Amino acid sequence: MPVATGPPRTSPRSSTTRSRNARTPFREEVWQQLLEGIRFVAGDFTDEAAFATLKDTLQELDEAQGTGGNHAFYLSVPPKAFDLVISQLKKQGMTKSVKGAWSRVVIEKPFGHDLASAQVLERQVSSAFDSQSVFRIDHYLGKETVQNMLALRFANQLFEPIWNRNYIDHVQITMAEDIGIGGRAGYYDGIGAARDVIQNHLLQLLALTAMEEPTSFDAAQLRTEKQKVLAAARPPRDIAAHTARGQYRGGWAGGRQVLGYLEEEGIDQASQTETYAAIRVDIDNRRWAGVPFYLRTAKRMPRRVTEVALNLRRAPHLPFTHNDIEALGTNALVMRIQPDEGITLRFGAKVPATLMEIRDVTMDFAYGNSFAESSPEAYERLILDVLLGDPPLFPQHEEVELSWKILDPILDFWADIDTQPEGYASGSWGPESGRAMLARDGFVWRRP
Ligand code: BG6
Repeated sequence: MPVATGPPRTSPRSSTTRSRNARTPFREEVWQQLLEGIRFVAGDFTDEAAFATLKDTLQELDEAQGTGGNHAFYLSVPPKAFDLVISQLKKQGMTKSVKGAWSRVVIEKPFGHDLASAQVLERQVSSAFDSQSVFRIDHYLGKETVQNMLALRFANQLFEPIWNRNYIDHVQITMAEDIGIGGRAGYYDGIGAARDVIQNHLLQLLALTAMEEPTSFDAAQLRTEKQKVLAAARPPRDIAAHTARGQYRGGWAGGRQVLGYLEEEGIDQASQTETYAAIRVDIDNRRWAGVPFYLRTAKRMPRRVTEVALNLRRAPHLPFTHNDIEALGTNALVMRIQPDEGITLRFGAKVPATLMEIRDVTMDFAYGNSFAESSPEAYERLILDVLLGDPPLFPQHEEVELSWKILDPILDFWADIDTQPEGYASGSWGPESGRAMLARDGFVWRRP
């Protein structure tokens, strides 16, 4: 059980602290300083004596380091152990803020495995910690490019007029990974792609894309807008037609041969866990009525990429011949979250020649070209925010519940079918059912 202590309450939120990033070279003196604050307390979660030792250790550290009694407990533990760990901390009197010092808890996703279990977990957590001391971590919200979505939308005049059903045809949110499950079988099997990624990261990206402008960026306003849009979002009416799931098979990825999901170490041969999940979400409000949002995530895709693509409608009238515009697609605005962080605008331009031929071109903003500063790591920023008690980048329980409300009917439907998810070759863009789901609506998935 590793122990970390927080900085003194007076820790300033300086710009120097903010601009540091985890990719700066290793510095021995910084490491040594960090090392002085690290202790290891061994024990399993049922071991009451270990938690008593943890308490003593924290007290010693407080005295040695002058941390003022402030503690943040980071629970990167299996979801089923949350309750036990929290009750052990509570038993030792470590969960309440005392004498002006704070005690906070950071909870890693998944927060429950469906709505009902998330509600139970919430009751357990809130019986021990004050609501403002609970930080549910979704590392996507700490990504610089995700925060830039707010800057793009609300600091500019250019985009807002088209940011609605009058101009946007459909939205595709993709988080593709080239890796398999690696050594995470114990966590991943039984959880799957929808719970692992759609319930949190992708629905948060959807909320930031679709929400109304908050009156300010303080935590309450931001969360209110996200909650409003998540409350208006719903699963598709025809779940069979507008969702897809798959499981990777063996094949080639990144130039080497890789195992299929069922052959990975620790995976049950009959596992029905999906490693590809795609769903359609509709938002029933004035801005988005009739604009489908397609969310997909998968392991073992051809490359690692996360992006939000807003695809625009075709121009209402095109005064060109069929040949002129044969190579013209639709306009698109793509927010590239990672790894090639930036924004792409796709539109048609005339090919230089005497003929009028129009073809798609792209205009790019790349973080790397425009800024010399490199982005802080998402976790670096979020952990600092926990220590500073700054909550805007942490989802509230209401958001977690609303996300489960969208996902639960889909998960129940998949569980009822009780079949193996459709196989897809490692290194491919997913199963046929994923393609068919978009084709039904007349669209195709982008190849980012
Ligand atoms: C985690 C998921 O939340 O995000 C992992 O549990 C996934 O399965 C990871 O690999 C991806 O994070 P990132 O920042 O590399 O997109």
